[in-house]
Amino acid sequence: MRERRLIIAIDGPAGSGKSTTARLLAKRLGYTYLDTGAFYRALTLKVLESGVSPDDGANVLQLAESIQIELQPRADKNRVLLDGRDVTQAIREPRVTNAISPISENSRVRAIMVDKQRAIGRNGGVVMEGRDIGTVVFPEADLKIFMQASLDERARRRQDELATMGIARDIETLRQEIARRDQKDSNRKIAPLMQAADAVLLDTTSMTIEQQVEFILEALEKKLKTR
Ligand code: DC
Repeated sequence: MRERRLIIAIDGPAGSGKSTTARLLAKRLGYTYLDTGAFYRALTLKVLESGVSPDDGANVLQLAESIQIELQPRADKNRVLLDGRDVTQAIREPRVTNAISPISENSRVRAIMVDKQRAIGRNGGVVMEGRDIGTVVFPEADLKIFMQASLDERARRRQDELATMGIARDIETLRQEIARRDQKDSNRKIAPLMQAADAVLLDTTSMTIEQQVEFILEALEKKLKTR
């Protein structure tokens, strides 16, 4: 038994395998799994439902200040509540994914989301995944992993994920959408997607989920031994 409950930060682009790996890792460690993309997705859904343009910074900010986002851990994934309503499925729809970039680029919106994420993770015992966990949310995390995979593989994974929701999308469209989102996530001024200097790189292109979890557990052991 470890005395201190740790903070594990996992960052990487869409489809790199973060969510499934982070969730299984959290289960192995008896930790809470936190998917920070769900915060930006829930806000984006609220923006779309309110008829506010994602580019309307002032109104988006007002919504960010007023909404309640709750993540409830479940065995298969986090259940996401937006103002008390279950939006777990709705936030994964392509209309949300495609409207998210201008919202997640807003620095004041990000400050609100980061506060919420820190409040949940501050006592440790979390595996938190996103784009800026190791760089901004918890730069003092006990272990940082940066996950990567080829664009083709990531598009294929996204296609499978959507198929389980009954949504059929062709692979080339998904490839282009992911490339566009990578571009935006990596080049935005505030909290861009990037590997922290002290993060361990994990390329998952030809790895199974189980191998990814084992890789991180080994990286954790190594890190703890060197402290
Ligand atoms: O991980 P995801 O695909 O659910 O994330 C959706 C979007 O949210 C992604 O395009 C970028 C944004 N995001 C972010 O800016 N910072 C995070 N920590 C997590 C997600």
